[in-house]
Amino acid sequence: MKGKTLVISGGTRGIGKAIVYEFAKEGVNIAFTYNSNAELAAEQVKDMESQFGIKARAYPLNILEPETYKELFLEIDKDFDRVDFFISNAIISGRAVVGGYTKFMKLKPRGINNIFTATVNAFVVGAQEAAKRMEKVGGGSIISLSSTGNLVYIENYAGHGTAKAAVETMVKYAAAELGSMNIRVNAVSGGPIETDALRAFTNYEEVKEKTAELSPLKRMGQPQDLAGACLFLCSEKASWITGHTLLIDGGTTFK
Ligand SMILES: NC(=O)c1ccc[n+]([C@@H]2O[C@H](COP(=O)([O-])OP(=O)(O)OC[C@H]3O[C@@H](n4cnc5c(N)ncnc54)[C@H](OP(=O)(O)O)[C@@H]3O)[C@@H](O)[C@H]2O)c1
Repeated sequence: MKGKTLVISGGTRGIGKAIVYEFAKEGVNIAFTYNSNAELAAEQVKDMESQFGIKARAYPLNILEPETYKELFLEIDKDFDRVDFFISNAIISGRAVVGGYTKFMKLKPRGINNIFTATVNAFVVGAQEAAKRMEKVGGGSIISLSSTGNLVYIENYAGHGTAKAAVETMVKYAAAELGSMNIRVNAVSGGPIETDALRAFTNYEEVKEKTAELSPLKRMGQPQDLAGACLFLCSEKASWITGHTLLIDGGTTFK
């Protein structure tokens, strides 16, 4: 992995942050994006460079404007000479999900569309730009984060759950067409993980308690629980895994 480059959206918090540190520890150079936390991102660049001796850079990105991925990758080209891995991780919250993160009868096309744009369209444009660079270095690995909320009911999660189902299918289409360039495409689908996104759930405490109760491991998921799976999928150990969704749910979905 040493000397390779990871491009990831939303590297400042939660699962994205755990992923960038997991890859940086292995000597991977990191190009990550932030949305609102510019200062945090700059501190993280310094911290990763000094701790792991890698190159790290942070860039602003708004996944509600997926086409801006094209400009982002042009900026990344100035700082990095190769792209080996791309992880579509960022997710919107707050005002942007009004009418999307709610009960079925309160869903509004605008809220649903925002979530779809941020989840599916952002994955598509980001993965297209990444694949063009990966082709030049003989292949690579692309991952979209997903959620078990497309398999089991989660209150208010209809907008996100359906977008995650869609992105998992998009992953399979991408895998089918990018395999000839030696690019593997997979999804990592998590059960409830303790991050800011989950803390914003109106019923966070209840979800937390129920998750620990449902899991045979008797605890809630942590961001690191998904980071290792991403590292594995990007490594040579996963060389024949493509078009797959790796479910990491602490055993909660079966119960
Ligand atoms: N938490 C869970 O229970 C769970 C479970 C399964 C799957 N997932 C998936 O895992 C991924 C990460 O979730 P998380 O829980 O780690 O989220 P999080 O803690 O809320 O972090 C969100 C990240 O996305 C960035 N972001 C926010 N709005 C953005 C925008 N408009 N454009 C670009 N970037 C934006 C944030 O940047 P700033 O810091 O700059 O705001 C931050 O880095 C998501 O795809 C989520 O659906 C989460």
